Amino acid sequence: MKIALIGFGVVGQGLAQILLDKADDLQARYGFEAQIVAVATRSRGSLMHPSGLDTAALLAAAGSGDLAKYSDQPGLARGASAMTIARESAADVLIEVSPSNLTDGQPAIELCEAAFTSGKHVVLANKGALLHGYARLNAAARAAGKHLLFEASVMAGTPSLRLGMQALAGCTITQARGIVNGTTNYILTQMEGGLSYADALADAQRLGYAETDPTADVEGWDAAAKAVILGAALFGKQFAFADMSVRGISQLTPADISAAAAAGERWKLIAEVTPAGASVAPMRLPITHPLSGVAGATNALTITTDLLGDVTLIGKGAGGIQTGFGLLSDLLEIHRTGQAR
Ligand code: HSE
Repeated sequence: MKIALIGFGVVGQGLAQILLDKADDLQARYGFEAQIVAVATRSRGSLMHPSGLDTAALLAAAGSGDLAKYSDQPGLARGASAMTIARESAADVLIEVSPSNLTDGQPAIELCEAAFTSGKHVVLANKGALLHGYARLNAAARAAGKHLLFEASVMAGTPSLRLGMQALAGCTITQARGIVNGTTNYILTQMEGGLSYADALADAQRLGYAETDPTADVEGWDAAAKAVILGAALFGKQFAFADMSVRGISQLTPADISAAAAAGERWKLIAEVTPAGASVAPMRLPITHPLSGVAGATNALTITTDLLGDVTLIGKGAGGIQTGFGLLSDLLEIHRTGQAR
């Protein structure tokens, strides 16, 4: 399978690292092989080669901060635009992992549409494109007869969407509720341990949990985008931020955290989605509540169903390797269904 990456930050590099480390295992167990044929970044250049880039050299160049450090080889093209890569690269699958633009989802939506039009599957971690373009991209995927998969967009590689959309198919889902932002959960956990808000946020950025602009995390918009994606995936509803109540954690003070602890409670940023709407708010939960024990960049989602009652999934919700695995799980699904060219 040939893949092209739009964006090569923490998440794109996480996927590349997994492909490098697990190449033999993926080949032996699933007959799966992936070649990265193109990478586009906003400020660090782009590379394209129809028969594949050297993944280790690509990671080394990205690690040095400039893809120009990747060595020349016959057939290598440098500087192609993201749109050229979406349209013209030799990829079977376009992977959109550029920073999420929660304002209008662009340019990712147009890049994904161009990928479908030119016969590629699309795998996304980009939440902005799904927030604003879910219906449009689904229609484009159907028209092209290609996959649109986005497991990595909610709870990183922890299979929240596959649980709701596939494993629980046949149940009627009435609600999904939980902790879906790793950065804020990490900050809250660290503040409970006495760290300042600013230091905890700086750690979350250093560890690769936070968005490029962490405002989206701390003000609740990243969790809200995930609630919208869950609304689309689980209920076929297109919610918009304008209709949602969204509050983050930036107003919580160390005194708020201590007051909750003194009362045997913990603050958690809770996202909730039902067929009627979605919301995000910080809430004080008793420490005996199952979500209270979910610490650090771990996320948790409880899906309420008619046939099973509540089903709760707990796992990592952010990080390069963890989100890279979400992308890999989608690539393996495409591979399994045999639709890669
Ligand atoms: N910034 C996001 C988070 C990354 O902290 O959860 C994963 O979507």
